[in-house]
Amino acid sequence: MTRQQPPPAAPMDRYIPALSYRWLTPLYDPLVSRVMPELALKRRLVEGARVEPGQRVLDVGCGTGTLVILAKQRQPEAQVVGLDPDDRILRRARAKAARRGLDIEFERGTATKLPYPDGSFDRVLTTLVLHHLKTDDKRRACREMLRVLRPGGELHVADFDRPHTCLMRAISLVTRHFEEVGDNIQGLLPAMVCDAGFEEVRRTSRLATAFGTVAIYTAIKPEDRGPRTLSSIEERG
Ligand SMILES: C[S@@+](CC[C@H](N)C(=O)[O-])C[C@H]1O[C@@H](n2cnc3c(N)ncnc32)[C@H](O)[C@@H]1O
Repeated sequence: MTRQQPPPAAPMDRYIPALSYRWLTPLYDPLVSRVMPELALKRRLVEGARVEPGQRVLDVGCGTGTLVILAKQRQPEAQVVGLDPDDRILRRARAKAARRGLDIEFERGTATKLPYPDGSFDRVLTTLVLHHLKTDDKRRACREMLRVLRPGGELHVADFDRPHTCLMRAISLVTRHFEEVGDNIQGLLPAMVCDAGFEEVRRTSRLATAFGTVAIYTAIKPEDRGPRTLSSIEERG
């Protein structure tokens, strides 16, 4: 009897892997936990998301699964989904979740074309992913995250931000030259989230890391308020 091989992975749009080169992926967890307060950052973001039983949560660019695992551990009654374009890192994430006996769905896909219907999640989380995208793709990803959220659903983002200390400013002198990170360092992310159609975009915390300042942002998808008449626009300002 011949052993069946898994089907080859479908081609995926170009993406930047977790540590830029796929062969470095096995080092991702040990490295990131040493160069930044990774667990503190992700716990803070998950706590801020206040996921309730029965809610559906999507982690865009889930990488090795650390954030989805924390989200599921904090709210075991939630349906948690991790999405990433990198099939190899997804294998790591699945294995990590299985070792902890957690029922988490992992799927291959990209932030710029989320494979989910409109309004299918209560929370969208994403950490350290947007700085992997070029400007237009960041905007597309923000619009996609808005689309898959239900009205009133929340976005929780952690990513590089405008430097907030002298040391962070010094680090940014190097990192700002990369197009993908440059937007973050210039502090453009909140405006991009807002332009996509989110409201109440707020920075809730900032942390210093070896690669620069990382901030957590929250934003809300507006409730469906029906057609905006001139008087309703004047009332809301
Ligand atoms: C620095 S890692 C962060 C992983 C994880 N979110 C974390 O916080 O540890 C960036 C991740 O973004 C993923 N990624 C890159 N381009 C992407 C895209 N277009 N859509 C979704 N994920 C993407 C990479 O495969 C990688 O897993």
